[in-house]
Amino acid sequence: MSLLDLNHANLTQTLLSRLFQSDIRTWLLDYAQPYKELMAYYRCAMMEVSTKFQVLNEEFSLQYDRNPIEGIKTRLKSLESVIEKLSRKQLPLSIESIEQNINDIAGVRVVCSYQSDIYMLADAFLRQDDIVLIQRKDYIQNPKPNGYRSLHLIVETPIYLHNQKKPMKVEVQFRTISMDWWASLEHKIRYKKNVVITDQIAKELYDCAAMGEQLDLRMERIQRSVEPSPMDTKEERAK
Ligand code: GTP
Ligand code: MG
Repeated sequence: MSLLDLNHANLTQTLLSRLFQSDIRTWLLDYAQPYKELMAYYRCAMMEVSTKFQVLNEEFSLQYDRNPIEGIKTRLKSLESVIEKLSRKQLPLSIESIEQNINDIAGVRVVCSYQSDIYMLADAFLRQDDIVLIQRKDYIQNPKPNGYRSLHLIVETPIYLHNQKKPMKVEVQFRTISMDWWASLEHKIRYKKNVVITDQIAKELYDCAAMGEQLDLRMERIQRSVEPSPMDTKEERAK
């Protein structure tokens, strides 16, 4: 049987079976291995950042008897999505190109109780001397036209390997519960197969985001009425 007789799946199988095991090992070591290592480094950076927020949450709860963080979610972009993003942006596929151009491989989402907690935590995080701010997008002060709200930071943080210290980029998204709830559902609706987002649906979604903002402000007013924010105390303002 000639190669021309094979369908795509069979062709891949046949080609693979014709490769020597040593060729596959060489390919993995020479080509794929550095990418696998890079992804592992991003996973480590993501863990570092997530731990920093767990520490801040712990410390705040000791000081003020409440947790400003409702939850921390982490996600590592798949190598497949990284390659897809590079090709979509017409960028070269190399380790250097990934490190330079893709900022959101390691993602940490910090879901906070109140809007003011977002800024308090972001400030405390950025004050840490191993965190370098690369980019800040405040979609809370300036929501996206579709209503999306969240505070986005791209930071660089070092990971300590056995023989080197390596700065890695991490995307941190801060949201309240209502911002997170809206964004999750909007994402599912927007990416649903065969669904066209009409102007009417877009307006409904925008209205829901605006209602979420009102709820956030209202809940925060209630919270303040029972317990002043730490930043409202005389001692804190004097700092
Ligand atoms: P890319 O990640 O390349 O798209 O960069 P960007 O410059 O467009 O980033 P931006 O900071 O605007 O958004 C990054 C991430 O925020 C996205 O991957 C989503 O997780 C989230 N995001 C931004 N806009 C929206 C939105 O309108 N709806 C939802 N659900 N999520 C959004
Ligand atoms: Mg992204």
